[in-house]
Amino acid sequence: MNAYTKLVALPMVASGMRRRYLVDDPRLYSNCFGLEFQNPVGLAAGFDKAGQWFNQLAHLGFGCIEIGTVTGQAQPGNPKPRMFRLPADKALINRMGFNSDGCDYVAKQLEKKREASCVLGINIGKSKVIPLEQAPDEYRKSLAKLFPFADYFTINVSSPNTPNLRELQNREHLVEIIDACKEANEEQAISTNSKTKPILLKIAPDLTSHQIAEISEVALENSLSAVIATNTTIAREGLKTPQSEVEAMGAGGLSGQPLTKRSLQVVAELYGHLQGRIPIIGVGGIMNGQDGWNMICAGANLIQLYTGFIYGGPSIVRDINRDLLSNLESNGLDNISQAVGKG
Ligand code: FNR
Repeated sequence: MNAYTKLVALPMVASGMRRRYLVDDPRLYSNCFGLEFQNPVGLAAGFDKAGQWFNQLAHLGFGCIEIGTVTGQAQPGNPKPRMFRLPADKALINRMGFNSDGCDYVAKQLEKKREASCVLGINIGKSKVIPLEQAPDEYRKSLAKLFPFADYFTINVSSPNTPNLRELQNREHLVEIIDACKEANEEQAISTNSKTKPILLKIAPDLTSHQIAEISEVALENSLSAVIATNTTIAREGLKTPQSEVEAMGAGGLSGQPLTKRSLQVVAELYGHLQGRIPIIGVGGIMNGQDGWNMICAGANLIQLYTGFIYGGPSIVRDINRDLLSNLESNGLDNISQAVGKG
């Protein structure tokens, strides 16, 4: 990544890349939770854990880049190997385990000049050594530390690779974490004489319909800015990769094409509960423009991808945005927001 970083730091290369990859069309613009998105395609958390590549990644035409997960403390994550490709399924299995430089380091990274204008989200999570009952305090501290740099924050309680993390999706835990983040948000806004930042919640695809309904209630009652659905799954059904190979890879979260259907279903259920009162960011198995369009029609205001970017390469953002425009035209719509929840 270093040679790439140096290359794209050259102004001519950067502007050439933007010309090649950025689809700049007002029909793709939208305002979500008070932020302007130039297009709906974002980079999902996990790719740029420490915010080191934000400026360079932005040249690839993303409307938003979500960095992290950033944990309160620096931690190495799980031992390697911890990421596996399943090319037959266009999928990945990872058990990175929140390898993170910690929020102090990330804050230092982000102090560097921000050149890109695309939206920057910061995804925060719990350090492995922090017990669940102390999690609210850790989220509070991370949010306070990173407040100056984020356009929005995502509370991540849905990674399968930190023991028991997903228990934080239960109502009581969730409300405590949201309260702690809101408090820190308000304190920081007052002390810096600025506005509070949108707070989003990222959920797992392995929730029951009852849990999705409950989380929707929590999101509405606590005025969350948006819900991101979904993280990776612990399910392994319907894979083309031989079962013995999959088993040999071991535990971890599955992402990419095998997740497309489930994430779409979760987004549709969420939309059924939220009815547009809170926006949704759809993520999970978006491998092409049609997957992105389906996600938006199911109720997502914005979409994100990670595995599609690995398999599809840098042009995938442009290709998805172009496909979204074709879909708008064929459906006689003037703006992407008109397609949200169209069914
Ligand atoms: C992830 N994902 C992730 N999510 C998150 O909230 N925090 C994280 O640190 C990570 N880390 C991470 C690492 C790797 C290697 C992968 C593949 C994924 C999950 C990611 O943001 C996304 O929710 C899922 O991967 C589903 O989307 P895709 O990959 O199917 O487009």
